Amino acid sequence: MRSAERQDQLLTGAVHAAADIQTLTVKILVEIHSDVQGIRLALELAAKGMFTTTPNPRVGCVIVKENKVIGSGYTQPVGHAHAEVQALNDAADRGFDVSGSTVYVTLEPCSHHGRTPPCADALIRARVGRVVAAIADPNPLVSGQGLARLEAAGIQVTCGVLEQEAREMNIGFLSRMQRGKPWVRMKSAASLDGMTALHNGISQWITGDEARADGHYWRARACAILTGIGTVMEDDPQLNVRAIDTPRQPQRIVIDSQLQISQHARVLSGGGTLIVAAQSNPEKEKPLRDLGHEVLVLANASGKVDLAALMQELGRRQINELHVEAGFKLNGSLIREGCVDELLVYLAPTLLGDAQRMFNLPALESLEHKKNLTFHEVKQIGADLRILARFI
Ligand SMILES: NC(=O)c1ccc[n+]([C@@H]2O[C@H](COP(=O)([O-])OP(=O)(O)OC[C@H]3O[C@@H](n4cnc5c(N)ncnc54)[C@H](OP(=O)(O)O)[C@@H]3O)[C@@H](O)[C@H]2O)c1
Repeated sequence: MRSAERQDQLLTGAVHAAADIQTLTVKILVEIHSDVQGIRLALELAAKGMFTTTPNPRVGCVIVKENKVIGSGYTQPVGHAHAEVQALNDAADRGFDVSGSTVYVTLEPCSHHGRTPPCADALIRARVGRVVAAIADPNPLVSGQGLARLEAAGIQVTCGVLEQEAREMNIGFLSRMQRGKPWVRMKSAASLDGMTALHNGISQWITGDEARADGHYWRARACAILTGIGTVMEDDPQLNVRAIDTPRQPQRIVIDSQLQISQHARVLSGGGTLIVAAQSNPEKEKPLRDLGHEVLVLANASGKVDLAALMQELGRRQINELHVEAGFKLNGSLIREGCVDELLVYLAPTLLGDAQRMFNLPALESLEHKKNLTFHEVKQIGADLRILARFI
């Protein structure tokens, strides 16, 4: 058998094994023959924490000895063990000696005492032989010190395997660490002629069931979902995750300059919604607070909500990925103010004619001023197209 074929087969085995992991354990002895394979399996494990690790990054870890996976793990909800410690415990539970093993991890092991002790120290104590990390951790509390500590202890270190995939996995965490603000993904469901609602406000539903369920996956992986008061008044959305199972609901945020929101709005059900206003109004704020919501006043010079300052504030509140589902006015404001990183557009094969556009943006006099994006991914979801496009 050619080695590439064998690698593929092994990888398929690894994928199935990873899919089996409910108890954090790779139940069969999967073989790993390259760093790429090891990190790929670790990334699959990391994806299991897609909805749960926040505000921590999603990290997967695989421990390999004599080409066999002897331990594996992924980051548990905040305050619980990180992936490396999960994998070390898994190997110990299964009676394996990890000394001299190779550890594949999707993010540099931490070197600081946070809610849990440093993973780098746990690996050193376990006397592993080599650590392969997909990317360094830009967290200023780590930033190379985890790898340096491992090297100083005589452990061989490699960094930069499947780097791009690892960055995508933690795009929000990296954004918060590097820029102090979340990765902002703006979702829109539109007709092929780019319309998101009829003139009378009707927009339910433009896309099909599959696209709407897919939209809930993106909601679920975000730390927070943001909308505008126009959408709340028109659609009365719940702004939660219903179409898929998740143990954690994202924080709901409504931009409502003048606190027009009704106390009966569905986005307020259950408490805990953040309402961002442009001016203080104690009379309107009190009942909202009494219902368990937070009102934040953050005005810009024109008396609207200061959206850029809000992004920084959400970064401070450890929001990694922010999911926006708003109407064309707030969408336009967010884009104009440079607050958006990525568009998640579901395009239905329909034409709505002259109606509401996706974004309220000013007319341009010259093509020089057009906003440029790159298509990151295009995929058919049911009858619709899903486009992920990133601002350059
Ligand atoms: N198809 C889709 O994907 C989709 C998704 C969501 C909504 N929709 C449709 O969109 C329509 C609603 O659109 P919309 O544009 O009226 O609603 P919106 O964008 O959700 O909210 C509009 C409000 O946002 C506020 N806003 C905008 N820029 C602001 C800024 N810089 N600072 C503070 N506040 C700002 C304004 O409120 P203030 O006046 O209080 O400042 C404005 O009235 C509905 O028909 C809904 O069905 C479609």
